[in-house]
Amino acid sequence: MNNQDSIMIEKETTDKIEMKTKKGLGEMWPEPIIRVQSLAESNLTTVPDRFIKPPSQRANETIIVDYPLEADAMNIPVIDLSSILSGNQEDKKRMSEACREFGFFQVINHGVRPELMDAAREAWRRFFHLPAEAKEAYSNSPSTYEGYGSRLGVEEGALLDWNDYYFLNFLPLVLKDLNKWPSLPSNIREVTEEYGEELVKLGERLMRIFSSNLGVKEEQLQEAFGVEGFGACMRVNYYPKCPRPELALGLSPHSDPGGITILLPDNHVAGLQVRHGDTWITVNALPNAFVVNLGDQMQILSNSIYKSSEHRVIVNSQKERMSLAFFYNPKSDIPIQPLQQLVSATNPPLYPPMSFDEYRLFIRTQGPRGKTYVESHVSLVNG
Ligand code: OGA
Ligand code: NI
Repeated sequence: MNNQDSIMIEKETTDKIEMKTKKGLGEMWPEPIIRVQSLAESNLTTVPDRFIKPPSQRANETIIVDYPLEADAMNIPVIDLSSILSGNQEDKKRMSEACREFGFFQVINHGVRPELMDAAREAWRRFFHLPAEAKEAYSNSPSTYEGYGSRLGVEEGALLDWNDYYFLNFLPLVLKDLNKWPSLPSNIREVTEEYGEELVKLGERLMRIFSSNLGVKEEQLQEAFGVEGFGACMRVNYYPKCPRPELALGLSPHSDPGGITILLPDNHVAGLQVRHGDTWITVNALPNAFVVNLGDQMQILSNSIYKSSEHRVIVNSQKERMSLAFFYNPKSDIPIQPLQQLVSATNPPLYPPMSFDEYRLFIRTQGPRGKTYVESHVSLVNG
């Protein structure tokens, strides 16, 4: 993107955000919702125009459905958390480098029981296979995004991605409302609650190592997120089989707006790709690993020492895919800006303060747009 474009986007975005912050996002989507799953199950031989990406945005390879991918394929770094926790400095340094260069890594020996990971996957797979009416009862709206949804962004006529999802909140506790979680399958609330608790603990552990790797005290990032009142939520992504996978995307290129994302990928089907320079690396997920990536708030807090990476999801015609994306976020109404310990006269803050509530309206209003939001958020005062 050239400078002129990014200035235009910034102007357009700022105006819209001002409007939306005053009004809030409404209770209604701009047009009737199309469930991707129902399209996929109607035996179409092609995809509706709304799902066809312009040629420049298409993935020019189609995949390679099953894991493991070819052994020599490029992959994101694999990090052993228990080794770091028991004091291995080399592994700790590898995590630091992964955060600086990729903003992405897989974590193994992370302390979450594999049985719980499988149970969470299985419960959500069963949810998506319930009859349509059972899911529609939890249909979401753009005002909070909680519930069963099929689009990100509220622009009328926007191109759409090939996925349905379920979005729910764990923290802060005032936002955790089990009535907004599905009641079927019968164990889904219980399993999801336990899964959320375990992932919050994993998030806390990662926050301490990320702080230490920035050279600040271990509690620093958590203090910046809010020791009380920080956020945790989850987006379960369901990507049905797609009759024309070369024309559509499961999820368009984006960086995650929040703090840390801990993704439980599908255990059979590949599809997540991370941008690295001009290439897209297909994540080759190891059994029982989580894929961790840093969101825009981490890039902002670290004054761009850590990178939030652009990623996307490609689809295939042979197998559906499901992932559980858990988001560990700052308290939503406090200003987030580069840590004061990381800025100096020669190293000025790259980003002005903004609350996460305000920041996430960019993606909630306009949908996934690569890294444009964090890039256009750069302080103009510092050129
Ligand atoms: C997301 C995301 C990747 C995946 O939900 O933000 O990037 O593999 N998901 O589903
Ligand atoms: Ni993402």
